[in-house]
Amino acid sequence: MTVPPPTLEIDLLTIFPGLFDSFLSESFIGMARERGLARIEAHNLRNWTSDRHRTVDDSPYGGGPGMLMKPEPLVDGIEELAGPKGASRSARVVLVSPQGKPLTQRWLSEAAGHPRWVFVCGRYEGVDQRVVDLAIDEEVSIGDYVLSGGEIPAMVVIEGMVRLIPGLLGNAESVVKESFTQDILEGPQYTRPPEFRGQSVPAELLSGNHAVIERWRHDKAIERTALRRPDLLRRATDELEELSHKERHQDQEE
Ligand code: ADE
Repeated sequence: MTVPPPTLEIDLLTIFPGLFDSFLSESFIGMARERGLARIEAHNLRNWTSDRHRTVDDSPYGGGPGMLMKPEPLVDGIEELAGPKGASRSARVVLVSPQGKPLTQRWLSEAAGHPRWVFVCGRYEGVDQRVVDLAIDEEVSIGDYVLSGGEIPAMVVIEGMVRLIPGLLGNAESVVKESFTQDILEGPQYTRPPEFRGQSVPAELLSGNHAVIERWRHDKAIERTALRRPDLLRRATDELEELSHKERHQDQEE
């Protein structure tokens, strides 16, 4: 019997490959790898150094605090794992950095269509710009704050990607449902017992009436989003308006 290739293949370039050991072997990521649905490997960037000290950093031209990642090991490593930058390259190469495009659920959904990736984890004050220009396809940030390396941000992106692998999570519906509601927050949720420390589960959820439950969930999701993230509601409304505007134009053309 031939074994099908993994749905998702990711190579990581990092100076701390050990950080990924338990991340890659526990929970659903460990399961995806065991079941052959994903191949994810962390490579030590120092394998692509050529000096005795296996140097990966150097001081910035023009002065300033801290060190930068030097270009040679990074570009050599990326090219060995993904090929030279260009249309025929075998993988999409992402640098995780605070300078990148903010990560969204939409980015993850689109990423799900690409089978091979290389993630580059920066350290120190950043990487030499020529690495970005010569070898990186896109930069992704996990938010407007600075961590001291790209390893945890890369884990965030990978966790978001792996859970979208078709057939991996038993409850495929929960992943699909999210994709419809990705523009608003989830409302409150409850499990047993029906009363805990004097706090009851809302009657609607215990009603057994599917329509009542769905309406209650929808209303609570909107209410919470309006309170906590009004920006998300505005964006969803704008997108709906744009869609109906486009549809009206199409009708007129027909
Ligand atoms: N590296 C350091 N901070 C980061 C962030 N916020 N996103 C992605 N990579 C990072």
